[in-house]
Amino acid sequence: MQILNGYEHSAIKIAVQLLNKGHIVAFPTETVYGLGADALNPYAVAKIFEAKKRPRFDPLIVHIGERDWIFDLAEHIPHEIEKLIDAFWPGPLTIILKKKEIVPDIVTAGLQTVGIRMPSHPVALDLLREFKKPIAAPSANPFGYMSPTKADHVARMLKNKFPLILDGGNSVFGIESTIISSKADEIYIHRHGATSIEDLSRITKHIHEKKHNGTCESPGELPYHYAPIKPLKIINSVNEIACEQSSFLAYSRPQSIPKSRYVKILSEEGDIMEAAANFFSYLIDLDHEDVEIIYAENIPEIGIGKAMMDRLKKASKKYKHITH
Ligand code: TXA
Ligand code: MG
Repeated sequence: MQILNGYEHSAIKIAVQLLNKGHIVAFPTETVYGLGADALNPYAVAKIFEAKKRPRFDPLIVHIGERDWIFDLAEHIPHEIEKLIDAFWPGPLTIILKKKEIVPDIVTAGLQTVGIRMPSHPVALDLLREFKKPIAAPSANPFGYMSPTKADHVARMLKNKFPLILDGGNSVFGIESTIISSKADEIYIHRHGATSIEDLSRITKHIHEKKHNGTCESPGELPYHYAPIKPLKIINSVNEIACEQSSFLAYSRPQSIPKSRYVKILSEEGDIMEAAANFFSYLIDLDHEDVEIIYAENIPEIGIGKAMMDRLKKASKKYKHITH
């Protein structure tokens, strides 16, 4: 497995050759790293499921290099969705639309809909535009684990499972894209992510936090998704830390010294965007320490904070499940 600098065009050329041969390539996006394959080649896409040990019922997001590519993949773009595309693409917003025939069933797990997004990371865009075709890509982690925000995470998590990782530095947002669908011009959020409700609400007033009936569950909505391997407990203050053999993920600088052996502070000054950029990276580091439990401080549910708390709540549900 090679890691090449994605900002060098020679590396993009190599990646495109591999994609054309039906191989998978990991690449950076502004949210998290993705594990990509030619979205229109079912054999190539099957390799993603194998590398991640991902169940076949879990559909993939299709990444596009130009807005117009959406018309090749989706039947109809509702008006409210068009407004959101204008406002947030390229960027961390995935849109679920009725799919066209050309999208293989393996990509959508047999659903009649397809999730599409146009990433803003320059390396991702360069790769897509050089490849000239959509790339199906889930986050580049083993199924159920936290998403990688650095090339090095991908190399450690999916050692030698595919030939190339394009290195594009640390992901700026650090949290996956927000996923939405629409029905009769009403917008439904399937997964909270890097585009906040506050952001979306500036463009449309038709937002619903719950998906409408009849929408398929996506595994990102499963209770134990995005979880570390170690048990995780959400706490309100450092005083709740009972065990020394623990790690502590603080939101901002703690008021008093935590008992935990390992401490990571998401943002000294409590900057929510800085916290998100560090979030998975710090949790992955803490998960590797020799500890019995990870304590995580409550994060304010403003902006991207809502997506972080969503991930923490899912991780802590796994803990309750193990211990009770
Ligand atoms: O930021 C991101 O979205 C990253 C980067 C690489 O783009 N990708 C990502 O993909 O997080 P993944 O596969 O780890 O999560 C995508 C989620 C899954 O939970 C999947 O079930 C859901 O999107 N999804 C994809 N297509 C869908 C569809 N047609 N209907 C409902 N859910 C869908
Ligand atoms: Mg994922």
